[in-house]
Amino acid sequence: MTKAVVLGAAGGIGQPLALLLKSNALVSELSLFDIVNTPGVAADLSHIATPAKVTGYLPANDGLLAALKDADLVVIPAGVPRKPGMTRDDLFKINAGIIRDLATGIATACPTAFILVISNPVNSTVPIVAEVLKKHGVFDPKKLFGVTTLDVVRASTFVSELHGDLGLAPSVVVPVIGGHSGVTIVPLLSQASHPLPSLSPEDLAALIKRIQFGGDEVVKAKDGAGSATLSMAYAGAEFAAKVLRAIKGEKGIVAPSYVNLAADPAGAKVLAGELGRELEYFSAPVELGAAGIIKINALGNITAGEKELVNAALDELADNIEKVRLSTDL
Ligand code: NAI
Repeated sequence: MTKAVVLGAAGGIGQPLALLLKSNALVSELSLFDIVNTPGVAADLSHIATPAKVTGYLPANDGLLAALKDADLVVIPAGVPRKPGMTRDDLFKINAGIIRDLATGIATACPTAFILVISNPVNSTVPIVAEVLKKHGVFDPKKLFGVTTLDVVRASTFVSELHGDLGLAPSVVVPVIGGHSGVTIVPLLSQASHPLPSLSPEDLAALIKRIQFGGDEVVKAKDGAGSATLSMAYAGAEFAAKVLRAIKGEKGIVAPSYVNLAADPAGAKVLAGELGRELEYFSAPVELGAAGIIKINALGNITAGEKELVNAALDELADNIEKVRLSTDL
């Protein structure tokens, strides 16, 4: 029996993500919470012939706590998305309060659940969840994840496009490390499972920029109607599926995610040596197990160009994390 919860389930990401989780046979109970429309979304999904029992909750009558009760996995796409001209950091002020309140509910109703944070800015919303859980004395760094999978999915797609063969996309694996906004997104293309076709330095720089700022393409194309939702729902469901398989006991599952490095002190030490700096949070490939993160993997061999990208990411990441520490209303 595995209970999954989506917080923000009526939104642009929340609805297709809930659909994909309803389609996952490893989910036996799917609980949907939002400030609007969840009874309708739940009724609609409940007619799909898969095992998960679906229930929708609204805030009235302690709906958040009821939705979260005994959850194994909580995915959070609640909050405001970017509009043209906004950075992920512009979202901080609005989304920080939403995430704080939802994390308080998790601390009370399901403190041992795996928590997957999608709401932006991920570089800061993940530390917010951690701070709330710490306040309640229930923080387990092995079970808190910032979902950076969309960056990984985009890298796979764009690399396969360069090969002129989208059929490769599902099998192309590119580790993407750092964080989840602009220059903090660092694709390690030298470690791609499929070597890149020969590219000029300009074309390589353009590919890296496209992976880092892929979200802007969608924000612009949607022209005021929001940011990536369908590709994000796909990516969120992919990461959730890996966590669900790990919960069921499958071994050897590795995926990049933005995590608190206390999840694996030994791995964090190696990483700090590679980065030349200690950080509290970083996105790196992590090995998943039934009780959460087993290991944070080292970066391994990276090129001089990739090292420059990592260096460019570090200051912004440190600022994003520090911003949470400086917030007085958490
Ligand atoms: P949306 O506006 O379509 O949906 C957000 C949902 O959250 C709405 O249904 C809203 O009612 C709900 N909500 C607001 N306050 C809430 C609260 N206190 N409790 C529960 N639900 C609440 O936005 P969309 O496009 O689904 O984006 C959601 C978040 O995901 C945004 O912060 C966006 O920036 C982020 N995002 C993250 C990505 C990533 O790669 N991690 C990629 C794309 C978006």
